[in-house]
Amino acid sequence: MTIILGLESSCDETAAALVTGDGRVLAHRLATQEEAHRPYGGVVPEIAARAHVEMLTPLIAAAFEEAGLTLADVDAIAATAGPGLIGGVMVGLVTGKALAHAADKPLIAVNHLEGHALSPRLADQSLQFPYLLLLVSGGHCQLLRVEGVGRYKRLATTIDDAAGEAFDKTAKLLGLGYPGGPRVEKAAALGNAKAVPLPRPLVGTSEPHFSFAGLKSAVMRAAQAGQHSVEDIAASFQQAVIDCLLDRTARALSNSHGVTALVVAGGVAANGAIRAALEKLAADNDLPFVAPPMWLCTDNAAMIGWAGAERFAAGLIDGLDVAARPRWPL
Ligand code: KG4
Ligand code: ZN
Repeated sequence: MTIILGLESSCDETAAALVTGDGRVLAHRLATQEEAHRPYGGVVPEIAARAHVEMLTPLIAAAFEEAGLTLADVDAIAATAGPGLIGGVMVGLVTGKALAHAADKPLIAVNHLEGHALSPRLADQSLQFPYLLLLVSGGHCQLLRVEGVGRYKRLATTIDDAAGEAFDKTAKLLGLGYPGGPRVEKAAALGNAKAVPLPRPLVGTSEPHFSFAGLKSAVMRAAQAGQHSVEDIAASFQQAVIDCLLDRTARALSNSHGVTALVVAGGVAANGAIRAALEKLAADNDLPFVAPPMWLCTDNAAMIGWAGAERFAAGLIDGLDVAARPRWPL
């Protein structure tokens, strides 16, 4: 059975994992840099890159130890080659190249978004192409028709902020700190989602895309007005995001024939209220709903190893001259 070493270092998580071609995660190790970035209220690229240098090699060693394997046992090395903070991407990709060169193994340069896009197939081996994917993370908010490995049709994207970015900015405005998404979700659970009237940009329009900038500005005005509790603003904000995601996804579903499932992936998919709303939308459309477990939604190396395994099976190998890419649309 194929064994792939996966490496992830594109943002503020450093991670290494060993994944098999039939979807078993033999080991996964992850170090989050939350503490290092917290004083700055967001990810500082220079600090992130330095932390990846320190953390990645010990994490790889720990993953091999956990699985009882050595570099000689792997069939290929898959590393995130973008998109992301370029200093961090370079650390993971160069480490992958060095290991591939030293052990004479193939290198697979994985698009981080492809890692998220294929992660539901690691979680649920029965998930077949084509599926409709809502990819919601800190940097991206897209609807994709996933037709096969390396075959992604983008149906919608955000015209301004990503959904996770809106969560992070709202958390900052409300003084909830970093990282924002989980903290807003926690505060929202204690608030009234109908308390604060907030806009739902683009909802009900024939336009396929997402927009969250207007929502963020409205949250800022509500926070400054001081008439509502943090919990009520958080709950109203989260509901507005859910309404936007649902309306846009429903629109894409009605235009997307023959999909096998509605699938959500990316860090924002860790949000329980968003998962529940999407699950209901799928049921209303007589489609199965697939969402990876929480740990597989936020950045990790198992999804990179799995995307590597899918690419390896399809014969998609890269040369050691492959470049790190800060921007890389799927
Ligand atoms: O996929 P990810 O780990 O990194 C990127 O590739 O961007 O996503 C991180 C994003 C952050 O914006 C974070 O606030 C958001 O996912 N997030 C959440 C939750 N957990 C993480 N957003 C809403 N609710 C959550 N529970
Ligand atoms: Zn991500």
